[in-house]
Amino acid sequence: MKTIIVTGANSGLGLWTTKYLLELDYMVIMACRNIDKTKKAIAEFSEFDKNKHFIIKEIDLSDFVSIRNFVDDLNDFKEIYGLDCNAGITYAGQFRYAKNGIEETFATNCLGHFLLTNLLLEKFNLERIVIVSSALHDPKIKAPFTKAVFRNINELAYPQINPNLTFTKQAQEFYTTSKLCNILFGYELDRRLKSKNLSRTTLINSINPGFMPDTNLGRSNKSFERITRIFLKFIGTIFGFVDFPQVSAKAIVALFQQNSISGKYFDKFKEIPSSDDSYNTEFAKSLWKGSETLVGSKFLN
Ligand SMILES: NC(=O)c1ccc[n+]([C@@H]2O[C@H](COP(=O)([O-])OP(=O)(O)OC[C@H]3O[C@@H](n4cnc5c(N)ncnc54)[C@H](OP(=O)(O)O)[C@@H]3O)[C@@H](O)[C@H]2O)c1
Repeated sequence: MKTIIVTGANSGLGLWTTKYLLELDYMVIMACRNIDKTKKAIAEFSEFDKNKHFIIKEIDLSDFVSIRNFVDDLNDFKEIYGLDCNAGITYAGQFRYAKNGIEETFATNCLGHFLLTNLLLEKFNLERIVIVSSALHDPKIKAPFTKAVFRNINELAYPQINPNLTFTKQAQEFYTTSKLCNILFGYELDRRLKSKNLSRTTLINSINPGFMPDTNLGRSNKSFERITRIFLKFIGTIFGFVDFPQVSAKAIVALFQQNSISGKYFDKFKEIPSSDDSYNTEFAKSLWKGSETLVGSKFLN
């Protein structure tokens, strides 16, 4: 039985992805930051087959110590087949810092998955990696969100208050840029693994699951933004631009089941080009090097 780790498996897209993987008889390690919350989410999810093979393991992706403990604790596993880098946060209207002093969106969405993925690759023959990004990584997408911009990693890790933007607008930039960094990381990882000529093949792809107002991603949003989201959901349902985690999760599962594509970006089921900046190899290298410095380990050099 192949084992897949799903981060943020207790909610929204991650929970649906876990359900489908279990139906296909994968063993799933639900990597979540709150075990009780995860047990409750499973208990309340009537479509989730509780007799399948899953375990819950604690991880806080904003905390490097927790990530290292999580990987150390996998010694009972001979192999891990896949990793779904799904967990993500967006905070509206506030600056939040992780324990290590790094801005929490960047720490969780980017650095946490950077460290987890690389530590797992050192220990296991991971064959499939799926990175959940967003269409919002692309500044050309028309959406009421501050556009992604990669300047340098220090600005992402330790941002200064921008007097020209409200906190909400700046927090949106943390999120959209973190989703750009997800793709830069995926492409760079693919290049580095290919350049090593390893006997194993790891297929790494990034994906936009679409606009899914039904998940908990917007939980920190102030009421005005929540209303905007409800409004967008209403309009989106009429005009067909709303997506549902129960459908998008199937696109993620499909990436675990395919056998040939790597280093690409998918809009749900369809491979498409990502933004211009996401192909900038200088950005990708500088993100990789900066991430190594921040997590305190070097990988795949
Ligand atoms: N919803 C959308 O419209 C949309 C659009 C494009 C992309 N996405 C992406 O889809 C992915 C899944 O999001 P979702 O919409 O399903 O949102 P969600 O329901 O809020 O799920 C996010 C998951 O991430 C977990 N998480 C957050 N911080 C964590 C941390 N420090 N350590 C470990 N786990 C953590 C959450 O755990 P807790 O329950 O403990 O908070 C939760 O399980 C994200 O990467 C998001 O960026 C979503």
